[in-house]
Amino acid sequence: MGLVLGIESSCDETAAALVTTERQVLAQRIASQDEAHAPYGGVVPEIAARAHAERLAPMIDVVLKEAGVALHELDAIAATAGPGLIGGVMVGLVSAKALAMAADVPLMAINHLEGHALSPRLADPALTFPYALLLVSGGHCQILRVDGVGEYRRFATTIDDALGEAFDKTAKILGLGYPGGPAVERLALQGDPDAVRLPRPLVGSGEPHFSFAGLKSAVLRAYETQQHSDADLAASFQQAAIDCVTDRLAIALDAMGPVSALVVAGGVAANKAVRGALETLARARDLRFSAPPPALCTDNAAMIAWAGCERLPTGQNDPLDIAARPRWPL
Ligand code: KG4
Ligand code: ZN
Repeated sequence: MGLVLGIESSCDETAAALVTTERQVLAQRIASQDEAHAPYGGVVPEIAARAHAERLAPMIDVVLKEAGVALHELDAIAATAGPGLIGGVMVGLVSAKALAMAADVPLMAINHLEGHALSPRLADPALTFPYALLLVSGGHCQILRVDGVGEYRRFATTIDDALGEAFDKTAKILGLGYPGGPAVERLALQGDPDAVRLPRPLVGSGEPHFSFAGLKSAVLRAYETQQHSDADLAASFQQAAIDCVTDRLAIALDAMGPVSALVVAGGVAANKAVRGALETLARARDLRFSAPPPALCTDNAAMIAWAGCERLPTGQNDPLDIAARPRWPL
């Protein structure tokens, strides 16, 4: 059995987790910074980095003590090394380097997107490669075929905003605060998804890429007419976004060849309406559907530790001088 400490600090959650190769999460903590960033309607990098620096070390201490694990018992320390807000990534990665050096334990510099991409396998032991992955978060919006650990082929990306970003911007228009996705989802439950006519950018195009900037602008224009309730706007936006996602996924699935399952990961995967639509698409194509529990969809350290667990058998570690990367495509 392998045991990995995971550290996540690429955006506005500070997180640490201890995970075994047998899929046990022995201990984990997540500290959200929502309150610190809420007045600004988005994450302020300097505030985020400072908060990570204050919280991470005591959090790692708590996680190790709770599980009764000593540093030298670890098989690896895995930290997000990018992509993300560079100040925060550096706090996590440098902490991991220091611990790895002090305890003489291997370091793994994990791509945050790889963490999201492999997270469904932590919750779903029966999920096998290759699978089709919709990776939808605040900063990323991609369709990938996951062929194995370290083997990712991208079929689609967004030409402007990410899906989570579109949820956040819609929330801002409706005055729902940050982070917007959960608030839009809640409000949409009380609205009519057909009430407001909104565009479905790129739907019908032969390439499976995404575009959400036009949808967000249309929500703003509709809001400014003052003819619709906020709930109808939220529900109509969410439905338009889902229609885009299912149409784009259908094109990508046609292009990628046989896969074992349709999988969704990333913060927006916590959305029940999105999950429901994807499950329906999977069923229509005779594909298994897999989605991690919501707490594993939004940023967390268990997924980073798990990516480390997945990498353990490859023996691939990283040197102590590895750099943090603000941009790092999978
Ligand atoms: O994966 P994540 O925690 O951080 C990034 O790597 O970006 O994703 C955060 C994003 C935010 O845009 C947030 O609004 C969105 O995921 N999100 C949701 C929901 N929960 C989180 N979007 C729609 N519905 C949700 N329930
Ligand atoms: Zn993320």
